[in-house]
Formats: sequence, structure tokens, C-alpha cells
Amino acid sequence: MPQTVLITGSSSGIGEATALLFHQRGWNVIATMRNPGERKTRLHEIDAIEKIHLDVLDTASMDAALEQALAKFSRIDVLVNNAGYGLVGPFEASTPEQIRRQFDTNLFGLMELTRRILPHFRENRHGTLINVASIGGRLTFPLYSLYHGTKWALEGFSESLQHELRPFGIRVKIIEPGPIKTDFYDRSMEIMRNDELTIYDEFVTRRMKNMTRSVTLGLQPRAVAKTIVRAASTRSWKLRYPVGSMGMLVMRRLLPDRLFNGIIRLAT
Ligand SMILES: NC(=O)c1ccc[n+]([C@@H]2O[C@H](COP(=O)([O-])OP(=O)(O)OC[C@H]3O[C@@H](n4cnc5c(N)ncnc54)[C@H](OP(=O)(O)O)[C@@H]3O)[C@@H](O)[C@H]2O)c1
Repeated sequence: MPQTVLITGSSSGIGEATALLFHQRGWNVIATMRNPGERKTRLHEIDAIEKIHLDVLDTASMDAALEQALAKFSRIDVLVNNAGYGLVGPFEASTPEQIRRQFDTNLFGLMELTRRILPHFRENRHGTLINVASIGGRLTFPLYSLYHGTKWALEGFSESLQHELRPFGIRVKIIEPGPIKTDFYDRSMEIMRNDELTIYDEFVTRRMKNMTRSVTLGLQPRAVAKTIVRAASTRSWKLRYPVGSMGMLVMRRLLPDRLFNGIIRLAT
């Protein structure tokens, strides 16, 4: 019998590529998105993929999506928490609303959905929770302080959670992509600006230019999708799955903080 996966943020990028790959591998796919009726994606050409409304800022939409998914397939085997965006700029330029929305979307929404699916996983004594974090949950770049805050928190949350869920047969996986060519750096990115705070302008211009250049070397979202499908299909209890940027992660592990962060300042 095919297994069933529910994915958040499936309207583009990593979520869309992941939904497509699970479908190609014979899984039942519930591709959730904020606006399934408005955004036409490649998934809309495939009737067998269920497109369901789910906004991670709206708990009622989570309840409705889970109800719809279970009515259709009666069981969910894997949840891929993928929805997220980047809030970028000098922290001093942020507003409380921006900070809250960044954490609500990348972290608290994910926690709400996770809490809702755990009883189902526990009942089945089976289930895999896949959280899309980032290489930015292991190391940091300038101007991403709030985004990193969400992803570092997601790493700690997931790492601890694995211990208490393991006795119930529930696996936790953290996916850690490096730069991936998606809408993340374009329509999904929110730039923090404060016209009265020009003191950061030169720093921001230089860093953003370097950052844009490094993204051109990024991988395609299908590379992340392959890793997610692998993490969903294995019986291993391995927690972390980096995708790309392995050199950076090795340096992070081997070098003292001062040296590593000096390199980051030079390279960005
Ligand atoms: N691209 C990278 O370099 C990279 C690297 C590391 C980690 N990541 C992570 O990968 C994940 C996916 O990003 P991506 O690169 O695929 O970018 P993307 O193409 O911009 O996709 C982001 C997805 O999140 C959805 N989303 C945003 N807010 C949402 C909300 N409130 N409720 C439901 N869905 C929401 C977007 O939906 P709409 O279409 O409605 O906006 C979109 O489907 C994110 O968690 C990101 O942090 C990306």
C-alpha cells in the first residue's frame, strides 16, 4: 500500500519539487499551500496530487487540512514542514511585527502543526517528521539574524524532540540545505528597511551583492527533494541531512569560532 506524505509550502521551490518527487515514487501526496486556487503550479497538472489549503499562520486551516487529508487517505506517514521565508537586513531596522511573523511562520506554525499530527503518529506507532531547516541553522551569515534565530531554534527543537518520540517509533529528520535556486531569494524574501537608519547602507549593499553572487552557485530544489524522499524512506534514525555546502559545515565543525566567523566576514 502506498505511503502518504503531507507537505507545507508546496506552491514553489523545495516544497513543489518534493511533492513532485514523492508522486513520481508512488506515494500519496497532500501538497498544502496558502492559495491552492490562485497559484498555478506544476502540481496542478497532476490530478492525483491533492492540493489543500494550509497557512501555517492559521491553526483552523491546519485542522481542516488534516481532517481532509485523513478523510481521503485515512493515514499520514510523513509530515514535511517546509513552509518558510527569509527576513533579511540589519536587526535594528526590524519591527516587532516583522520579528513575530518570521518566528510565527518558520517556527511556531511548524510547532502547531507538529503538535496536531503527533497523536496520529503515536496511535500508529509510526511516522516521520521532516523539518526543513537550513545550513543557516548550523552557522550564520550577516543580516540574517532573525532568520537564523528561527532555524537555530528549529535545530534545537528537532534534536530534543527525537528523544521523546523515538519510543513511539516516530522518526525526526532535519534537512539542512545550502543555497538553493528558488523564490526564497526573490518574492519570498522580506527586506528590513528603515529610511532613517542609513548608517548600515554600505554594509548592506556589499553583503547583499556578495550573497546574490553565492546564490547563483546554488543547487536546484530537486536536490533537496531527493534528500527529503530518502529521509522519509529510510529505517535509519539518522537526524541530520545536509544538502550542498558540505565544505562550510566541515569547516564549522573543525575550526574555532573566531577563525570560522573571520572567514565568514571575509567571504560575505
Ligand atoms: N532556497 C534556499 O536557499 C534555502 C536554503 C535553506 C533552507 N531553505 C528553506 O526551505 C524552505 C522552502 O523555501 P524555498 O527555498 O523552497 O522557497 P520558496 O520557493 O519561496 O518557497 C517557500 C514556500 O513557503 C510558503 N509559505 C510562506 N509562508 C507561508 C505560510 N504562512 N503558510 C504556508 N506556506 C507558506 C510559500 O507559499 P506562497 O507561495 O503562498 O508564498 C512557498 O510555498 C524554507 O523553510 C526555507 O527556509 C531554503
